[in-house]
Amino acid sequence: MITLPANKAFREANTNRRRIMKLLVIGATGRTGWEVVQHALARGHHVTAFVRSPEKITLRNERLIILKGDAMDEDQLVEAMRDHDAVLSTLGPRQAFKPSSLLHDSALAATRAMNRSGVKRLVILSAAAHFPGIPNRIVSFILRNHMRDSRAMEEIVQANGLDWTIARPPRLTEEDYPTYRSREGAAPKMGFSLSRKAVAVFMLDAIEQKKHFRKIVGIAK
Ligand SMILES: NC(=O)c1ccc[n+]([C@@H]2O[C@H](COP(=O)([O-])OP(=O)(O)OC[C@H]3O[C@@H](n4cnc5c(N)ncnc54)[C@H](OP(=O)(O)O)[C@@H]3O)[C@@H](O)[C@H]2O)c1
Repeated sequence: MITLPANKAFREANTNRRRIMKLLVIGATGRTGWEVVQHALARGHHVTAFVRSPEKITLRNERLIILKGDAMDEDQLVEAMRDHDAVLSTLGPRQAFKPSSLLHDSALAATRAMNRSGVKRLVILSAAAHFPGIPNRIVSFILRNHMRDSRAMEEIVQANGLDWTIARPPRLTEEDYPTYRSREGAAPKMGFSLSRKAVAVFMLDAIEQKKHFRKIVGIAK
């Protein structure tokens, strides 16, 4: 056994102790959002799931609050995020090919609500197809309605003085691994997919470890 000097042992014990937070998850009934909820609870955090369809959540946990609301309603969001430490958004349109302003409108409402309620930390899901490169341009063309909305969302998020992190993953999968590679300002090399579980882990790591403030981060397997 290695014996550490007393002050170093104390420092390491404190570093390893996780600060328990109150997190608001927007999009919690989605495939990635639900991973975020489960991982946040497993890490001991308190979670408020802000959803339009609460009946989809059957899990009961003393640290989970399920709130029915409209992700485009700033006043409802102000109420929902009172006393919270951070907001995580994993919203996405159920029909990605159709024109939609869901991401723009909900980002506008959420960021305004955060500024009103004093919650500074936002981690929000976008898409790797915004990075340059021919394959991304092809995806962006095929999903042009969704990508236009997602780009507008990113612009809103970057323009409001919050401590934001925009996570850009490639194709999301239902695989069962929690590890990811990340790179600020670019996609990790040869990263073509990522499990939704790993996206959730990245989003929570960014908040707990106070990393990637005001950065767009490429994440991949
Ligand atoms: N799919 C991919 O391969 C991929 C790749 C890169 C990035 N992304 C990004 O990842 C994000 C999330 O993906 P996902 O697969 O986890 O999404 P998902 O499973 O389709 O979940 C979407 C979530 O958004 C909610 N939502 C949709 N329309 C809404 C509305 N009008 N008002 C309120 N809530 C609404 C849904 O609520 P309900 O349950 O009530 O419908 C659900 O909670 C997307 O924005 C996408 O851009 C996806």
